[in-house]
Amino acid sequence: MVFLPVLETFSIFVNIFQKNDGKLYITDVCICALMENNAKIMVEDVRIEILCPFHMPFLRGFRSYEKEMVNFLIEDALDNQNQRISLTFLWFYQDELAAYITLLNDRINLEGNLKEFFMEKGVLYNSLPALKIGRLCVDDRFLQRGMGALMIRFAIKIANQIFERYSGCRFIVLDAKRNIRKSPVLFYEKHGFKILRERKGATPMYFDLVDNIKFCA
Ligand SMILES: CC(C)(COP(=O)(O)OP(=O)(O)OC[C@H]1O[C@@H](n2cnc3c(N)ncnc32)[C@H](O)[C@@H]1OP(=O)(O)O)[C@@H](O)C(=O)NCCC(=O)NCCS
Repeated sequence: MVFLPVLETFSIFVNIFQKNDGKLYITDVCICALMENNAKIMVEDVRIEILCPFHMPFLRGFRSYEKEMVNFLIEDALDNQNQRISLTFLWFYQDELAAYITLLNDRINLEGNLKEFFMEKGVLYNSLPALKIGRLCVDDRFLQRGMGALMIRFAIKIANQIFERYSGCRFIVLDAKRNIRKSPVLFYEKHGFKILRERKGATPMYFDLVDNIKFCA
């Protein structure tokens, strides 16, 4: 996906791919009106709801340059929830669906430096419990206004509550999926996540809820 700013208030998103013949093909063109007000969104202005069948009409209006994120929300999120695989939180801003985050339980397999780190502390398990951010996506119209950062803080808060009230949870984990616009790895690193290991396509990352106090405040 290529992002082409054309006017102050409009942008064009163009999906370009290369076929075997070496030629470039354009598959998708989308003109987006940018929000005139680019001010940061405050958490108190957001309404968070757990996905339910009543929300289906709202989902169809959700737009992202990352099409897989839209497809998951419309086609799989509710089904996964009905199967108790994941839980999706919808973020509404001024009654518009502005973002969503999907959470599930996971574990982190301790390898390399991380394994050594815990061995030094006398922790000899092969894996440790984690909360996973399965999906995180902000609607194109609300990008760059702090929603992504707020959702990371939300996940940290949930992970801390899980530990304080219900069950062990040492990490938040996710797979940062590469996209053509910008690698989300930098976004997550800015919020205290570290790379677990390099992998093609998606980079597994983790956030240590104990060793990251400045991000947990
Ligand atoms: C990644 C994403 C959630 C960020 O949301 P956002 O609300 O725009 O982010 P914020 O406004 O909180 O943060 C903006 C900051 O993060 C940086 N940033 C935003 N998106 C980024 C990305 N994809 N990669 C790297 N940095 C990014 C911006 O440069 C900006 O930095 P600055 O504050 O120094 O200017 C959003 O771009 C998105 O939904 N992308 C499509 C789906 C996706 O890639 N999800 C992650 C898949 S694992």
